[in-house]
Amino acid sequence: MKHFLTLLETPADEIIEMLDLADQLKQETKQGIFRPYLKNKTIGLIFRKSSTRTRVSFEVGAVQLGAYPLHLDAATMQIGRGEPVQDTARVLSRYLDGIMIRTYEQEEVEGLAKFGSIPVINGLTDFAHPCQVMADLQTIRERKGKLAGLKMAFIGDGNNMCNSLMVGALKTGMAFSCACPQGYKPDPKVLQFAEAYDCFECVDDPMTAVKDADVILTDVWASMGEEGEAEKRRQVFEGTYQVNAALMAEAHPDAMVLHCLPAHRGEEITEEVFEAHADEIFEEAENRLHAQKAIMLTLMGD
Ligand code: CP
Ligand code: NVA
Repeated sequence: MKHFLTLLETPADEIIEMLDLADQLKQETKQGIFRPYLKNKTIGLIFRKSSTRTRVSFEVGAVQLGAYPLHLDAATMQIGRGEPVQDTARVLSRYLDGIMIRTYEQEEVEGLAKFGSIPVINGLTDFAHPCQVMADLQTIRERKGKLAGLKMAFIGDGNNMCNSLMVGALKTGMAFSCACPQGYKPDPKVLQFAEAYDCFECVDDPMTAVKDADVILTDVWASMGEEGEAEKRRQVFEGTYQVNAALMAEAHPDAMVLHCLPAHRGEEITEEVFEAHADEIFEEAENRLHAQKAIMLTLMGD
């Protein structure tokens, strides 16, 4: 019985196997080949937060695999009125073959996995966004032909994206540098994991982090659930934590730029850099579909 809760507990060889499967499924999709690998299976997609990409790519991906996806808005479920996760997990396990959940606390995802008897996929928590990072790694490998030996840099909030990118990059042999302001560093548990790697650094200065980077990523200054801190965060991040032309000049001349989206142009990234790398960014968004099909198939396939 396997779950996909964070990349911390996903072995490196399984990450690579799922990326290979994602590439295969992408090729099949491009050729119009849709094999019903998950025929007659059902997956529940629980959302406590907004979503465009995650919802649509999971629903379409499940249908393309022959499965039936149920969109479950937590606000209209009993879990949204306080029904315990232990009970929700045991009930849903009797109807469904898998659960994807997007929520606030990582503990809720872990709880579904602990008390249920079907695979659980983390579709974003405040702690991690592992599905997004699988798509990011797929996009980098497609465009650069490899992962190991490249350098990834992340600029901005040490949030769910930064946490998951750090683990995904280091486990696949990439060097990783992040520049995050004091008070907005990545999660201590993830830092502890990363500090065992020589090719890891977490600094304050973005110019230092992007030096010779092959891939640069950023994310919003205030994530979902942090709307009330937006102004305070703006004052901390503005003027320094932005992917712009001056920052790009420090990176490798062929550096890619990725963004999980939605992006705030003029905040964490300039319009100019965003549009110059739009092909990469929208390929990254497309790869959510292929990467998540690989995750569903790995967890829910016979
Ligand atoms: N990147 C991402 O997860 O997008 P959504 O919030 O639209 O799902
Ligand atoms: N860090 C962002 C990612 C959105 C896909 C958030 O959690 O809102």
